[in-house]
Amino acid sequence: MSELNKIALKLISDGKGILAADESNGTMSKRLEAVNVNSTPANRLLFRETLFSSESMKECIGGVILYDETIRQTTKSGKSIPELISSFGAIPGIKVDTGAKDLANSNGEKITEGLDGLRERLKEYYDLGARFTKWRGVYNISEKNPSMLAIHTNAQALARYSALVQENNMVPIVEPELLMDGEHSAGVCLIKTSEVLKKCFEELILHKVDLSGIILKPNMILSGSNSKEKISSEEVAQKTIECLKNSVPTEVPGIAFLSGGQSEIEATENLNSINKNNNTKFIMTYSYGRALQKSALEIWSKNNDNIEGTQNTFNHRSKMCTLAAQGKWSYEVENK
Ligand code: 13P
Repeated sequence: MSELNKIALKLISDGKGILAADESNGTMSKRLEAVNVNSTPANRLLFRETLFSSESMKECIGGVILYDETIRQTTKSGKSIPELISSFGAIPGIKVDTGAKDLANSNGEKITEGLDGLRERLKEYYDLGARFTKWRGVYNISEKNPSMLAIHTNAQALARYSALVQENNMVPIVEPELLMDGEHSAGVCLIKTSEVLKKCFEELILHKVDLSGIILKPNMILSGSNSKEKISSEEVAQKTIECLKNSVPTEVPGIAFLSGGQSEIEATENLNSINKNNNTKFIMTYSYGRALQKSALEIWSKNNDNIEGTQNTFNHRSKMCTLAAQGKWSYEVENK
């Protein structure tokens, strides 16, 4: 087993999942302002430190994805954030892309930037304690999109990023996200997601990326958020598994889904159904941002000193997700 494969498995085995707390300052400001909290470096640190000190970090969270600001911050007790995360046995990770920009000559599509100077930044992040990384490509679904142009350019960027990350002894999370926005059916989401994933793996292979040392972070197969079609979690599971079976090489150890705007319960129920029906050799778990933090942020925003209430809420959510990652979640345990 390679070192990278060991790190990948440590992040996602035994029902563990990944906490995506890597919101950029812009995104985090929107989240905080939505609950009437000032977005200052100190407030961003306080909320994140509260989550990263929770009990469930031990049994549920295999790794935390950080943003550049956070990986450099220090807790009240003088520990660095990577040290705090490692003290629970979880692995610190870092978002290394610099965001999605307009793709020239496209119809409103995006290309993710951040390759220039990446090798040097990776060395610094490794020294700060990171052992895995994330890069998100983002695609919108419409009749013509994602276009071949967006599919090719983003796949190439994901592959160049992954090769550089492995060169620096870290595990790349490869995140091609087809957004939920739109009126499309789940059938269309399935076809377009498969096309995107196949191209990503074609490029990863061309760039000689060790597939046993990556984690794929895809969207689930869902109908668009404005679609009239409503499908059950069993159908989400069946279509998601079909898509991954058709598009992902078997060397990949695991898949950690993004939540993508699903509610906390939807993201948990769908992951549970996927695991109940998982007939692949992939580990299927979570790498959620909003679906792990939303309720905890609401509680914390009402009183920043309510550490216990915030942590209890986060502990519950991560326990539910960890049960779902083993196909053991139910409404009964959710509401107990
Ligand atoms: P959500 O789970 O909120 O979609 O965030 C996951 C993520 O990392 C997006 O890049």
